[in-house]
Amino acid sequence: MAERQSGAATVEPADASGAPGYTFHDHAPAPDNFREAVLHGLAQAHKAIPFRFLYDAAGSRLFEQICQQPEYYLTRTELALLENHAGDIAARVGPGAQLVELGSGAGIKVERLLAALTEPTAYIAVEISRPALVAAVQRLAADWPALDIHAVWADYASGFSLPLAKTQANAQAKAGPVLGFFPGSSIGNLRPAQAQSLLATWRQRLGAGAHLVIGVDLIKAPAVLEAAYNDAAGITAAFTGNLLVRANRELGADFDLDGFEHEARYLPGRAAIQINLVSRCAQQVTVSGRRFQFAAGERLHVEDSHKYSIDNFRSLADSAGWQALDVWTDANELFSVHHLRVRG
Ligand code: AVI
Repeated sequence: MAERQSGAATVEPADASGAPGYTFHDHAPAPDNFREAVLHGLAQAHKAIPFRFLYDAAGSRLFEQICQQPEYYLTRTELALLENHAGDIAARVGPGAQLVELGSGAGIKVERLLAALTEPTAYIAVEISRPALVAAVQRLAADWPALDIHAVWADYASGFSLPLAKTQANAQAKAGPVLGFFPGSSIGNLRPAQAQSLLATWRQRLGAGAHLVIGVDLIKAPAVLEAAYNDAAGITAAFTGNLLVRANRELGADFDLDGFEHEARYLPGRAAIQINLVSRCAQQVTVSGRRFQFAAGERLHVEDSHKYSIDNFRSLADSAGWQALDVWTDANELFSVHHLRVRG
């Protein structure tokens, strides 16, 4: 008899018939985190706001638009790789997989895997944006009625347990192999040491024998990288600036939205795109009654997006206990999809 373990869970019916659509697991981040993070970040010598706060409802919508910009090659290249190689992944993983997605967003990419896998048993979506999570699992529950669907509202970098099926006698052999899915090169938004630690945490969390399919953006010509984060339509600039819109709305801050400029530049020494909001003039900003001075040209750091060579990423994964099995890239070597397995 299979058992499931996790935190506070509620079963959400899919329709009027009362059939369970998905199970919701509430591991919500503390609501006052944004205020603390902004006040702390603005008090630093190098001002910064953590990138995870980019994704409120408006930011998540803007990010979806970024993914459709012609310069932002990451999403369409990864989708094509998944389209072409989902069958290879399914053959490697085998039947009955429990698919766990980190940062499931709109849940579009995972459909490529679900369609290719042989009789997957469960889909566990882990996502920090509650509206995005609920919309995605509702849609998937309607399309995949036989699938045991779990919505885990959590920051995937925080501590929580996964609702994986386990049997008393032989945990994963009977319950089906565990397949982690971490698309979009979101791993690149972490510093390499943090990325290694996240991969090590998820090796433990997914368990012995687990597989991981992970999308990783590749190092390439700086002009191509910088164009991807400075799209002509200005969507990425709006995405960055939305952080100030959010601070004004949620924290009663008085950021002058025209007083800051989006900057995305490639730093070859760090193999990373760095995104900042640059103060156009000397100015003062008040947040929750506290005043902060900006010099003209001063940077407020918002996000880094690290890029890897295939070998660099494989050695990072290796140092976190993952064995590299396969890697797929496109003809222009823009993007890579790695298939890893827990070593040992
Ligand atoms: C989510 N993440 C992988 C995106 C990236 O490319 O680093 C976030 C992003 N920021 C600006 N454009 C896209």
